[in-house]
Amino acid sequence: MKKIIDFIRQNLIDFAVVLAGFFLLKIPYLSNISLFLNGYVVASLIWFALIRPKMDKRPFNLHRSYFYLFYSITLFGFFLAKIIVREIGLYASPFFIPITLLVLLFDVEIAIVTSIFFAIIFSLVFNLDALGFAFILTNSLLTALLGSRIQKRMHVARSALFVALFSMIFYLFQLHRVDINLMESLVILFIPIVFSIVSIGVLPFIEYASMIYSNVDLMELSNLNNSLLKLLSLRAPGTYYHSSMVANLAEAAAQRIGANAILARTAAYFHDIGKSKRPYFYTENIYEKNPHDELNPKLSHLIIQDHVKSGIEMAKRNRLPLLIQDVIPQHHGTRVQKYFYHKSKDMGEELSENEFRYSGPKPQFKEAGIIMLADAVEAAARSMKNPTAGRIKTMVEEVISGIYNERELDESGLTLKDLEAIAEEFTKVLFSMFRSRIEYPKEEIKKVINLAEDSLGQQNENEDRSKKDQASY
Ligand SMILES: [Fe+2]
Ligand SMILES: [Fe+2]
Repeated sequence: MKKIIDFIRQNLIDFAVVLAGFFLLKIPYLSNISLFLNGYVVASLIWFALIRPKMDKRPFNLHRSYFYLFYSITLFGFFLAKIIVREIGLYASPFFIPITLLVLLFDVEIAIVTSIFFAIIFSLVFNLDALGFAFILTNSLLTALLGSRIQKRMHVARSALFVALFSMIFYLFQLHRVDINLMESLVILFIPIVFSIVSIGVLPFIEYASMIYSNVDLMELSNLNNSLLKLLSLRAPGTYYHSSMVANLAEAAAQRIGANAILARTAAYFHDIGKSKRPYFYTENIYEKNPHDELNPKLSHLIIQDHVKSGIEMAKRNRLPLLIQDVIPQHHGTRVQKYFYHKSKDMGEELSENEFRYSGPKPQFKEAGIIMLADAVEAAARSMKNPTAGRIKTMVEEVISGIYNERELDESGLTLKDLEAIAEEFTKVLFSMFRSRIEYPKEEIKKVINLAEDSLGQQNENEDRSKKDQASY
């Protein structure tokens, strides 16, 4: 009994949503209470069998907003479909908007199970015959499957076109070729196109309000027109270059293991965004004297650690996607800043490792884990002298094994098999990057400009020294 009460308590919102969804469909027929109750039980059973398990995973477990957005779209879907069927007709693709939004903002699995749920409940409530049920089910499933291929806004219209053609064929098929209504045919053909425009139009508002982004808009975030990236490229060009390299590595690795490559790429661009606040303290931006030479190691650690805090603040202020906000602290997890820890030890200070630890949390999803690995590998690659394929491979294996042994990846969902595939991808990307640095054959060129002798001498000296340190912070 206690278990049942706990289950109801934990899933109270789910029950409320099922009830509300059913209520929205049943409003004119409330007189038949027993039918209503039976329907409610059926709806709940389908909900928990089909949909609930799909929601018990990341990122639903990280952010309540994912539940709220899912519930809002589902309820809105019930309500809208009811109006469309009543005002336009069954063959007007009533679930196009909610299913398209679900596949764009969540994933194709969730969109598919919701399609099945919608079809069964809708058929029960509207007493649809087998053909009606088959239409709603296949129409919604087709919307979900086509939606999973959407990468640009225009693809939503393409998906609508296919759904419209499918509806038309189904409509003509069920008429037995007797009474084709031209007006009705035109509406069936054009209404999904109108729905695609509504979906595209409403998407940015949903994303801004919920901070849950589709891949279409994640991709747009990563271009240089974004004010945060522009600021980073101007104030901390070294960090911007580093972030671009991390993005290349993370994208390739995510693609290989079947994680979200677009999320990995975009989050990598923003992972060190906090460094634009005090860029001159970070090794990739140090061209003159290293300010840490004159600072106590503990103070250096606090300054370096501050890029995480500043990054989160900037990301929140600019309403960046929730998962990108998560990557900012998670790309360092609870790792120790070894360079400053050893410096402190060498100075005879008796501070423990924990004093030089980032405050975490550890990566909570695969893409965050990949970015942690790509970040460390990129830093180590920059300090490599005379890289060869063998040296790159050994370095990648050592960096990834080190992080794994520190148990930083325990909560990321990455398996050892994933790590092997990631290491292979990192090695390939780094090797192709290093290989492209071919020396051009020298040509006699008459110089027309001459820089002063010492203008770069001092800078090069400092660069060499900082390169040795950069893998550490
Ligand atoms: Fe960082
Ligand atoms: Fe970084």
